[in-house]
Amino acid sequence: MEEIKSIQWFPGHMTRTKRKIESQLKLIDAVAILLDARVPYSSCNPDLRSIINNKPRLVVLNKCDMADPIQTKKWLELFKGRGIAAIALDCKTGRGLNAFIPTVKNVLSDRIQAWKEKGMTGRTIKVMIVGIPNVGKSSFINRMSKQNRAKVEDRPGVTRGNQWFTIGKGFDLLDTPGVLWPKFDDPGVGERLAYIGSVKDDILDTEQLSGRLLEYLRDNYIEPLCVRYKLKKEDIEYLQGYEILEMIGKKRGMLISGGEINTERAAATVLDEFRSAALGRLTIDKAEDYPDVRV
Ligand code: G4P
Repeated sequence: MEEIKSIQWFPGHMTRTKRKIESQLKLIDAVAILLDARVPYSSCNPDLRSIINNKPRLVVLNKCDMADPIQTKKWLELFKGRGIAAIALDCKTGRGLNAFIPTVKNVLSDRIQAWKEKGMTGRTIKVMIVGIPNVGKSSFINRMSKQNRAKVEDRPGVTRGNQWFTIGKGFDLLDTPGVLWPKFDDPGVGERLAYIGSVKDDILDTEQLSGRLLEYLRDNYIEPLCVRYKLKKEDIEYLQGYEILEMIGKKRGMLISGGEINTERAAATVLDEFRSAALGRLTIDKAEDYPDVRV
């Protein structure tokens, strides 16, 4: 799997993907936009709305097993309040997948009624699956189609053929023809995608990155942070990220010769443990910060 930052994005790729998706729109009835439930804002492609135009759509918050359930509920309410159908699920256990077909039917209820009136009862409903790399598109399609297919690389320039998958009950899924890019112009987005491991962190300063993550956790999830690293709330609530990182390194006995704390190792540990949800189910993009979210 190519990771987002290692992809050489350039306007040519973006235009090609846009064109390919546009040319497929006439073949489909709805678009399912996969977002990562830990970063629903940051994992949304900024140009999607103009690409999919007026097609009926629904949001699928994937990887819920790793996201804060309270935040996931808030995101679902936020989308609902903005008239956007949304469901939460995870492709690891398959929890929530059953809601997909009924939600698509609901989104398309007027059309389904119109088809019925025209006598088109056996019509297959076709849904395009879109999302930035690593959000879980392949996992979702595999789960829904209950077949293991070879993973197709998400690499610009490598054409993903038109891939249709039958999921039964009169539904077909179309894998995205092309790759959707994340928001480039918001540095916060790059950082948040790096926290969850969707952006390669070897091109970023890991100590700085984990320091920033620790500050976010200090402000939003201090309890799970303290539990995981055996820290005291009162000891860290006024500390900078780097100082928390040093405390963690010390607690974990990560020292280099001379007794200095190996903050680089501590940083890698914090990032790994966050990504594997060892700190618990945590959300980075909080629903209350994005009241105007649009997809
Ligand atoms: P993509 O097609 O959108 O690029 O994403 P893909 O399905 O390849 O998923 C990217 C990674 O996210 C995979 O992990 C996959 O297992 C994991 N994943 C997908 N959905 C979920 C989910 O709901 N919960 C959790 N916890 N993980 C999920 P990987 O480590 O890259 O690959 P693998 O070793 O698991 O195959």
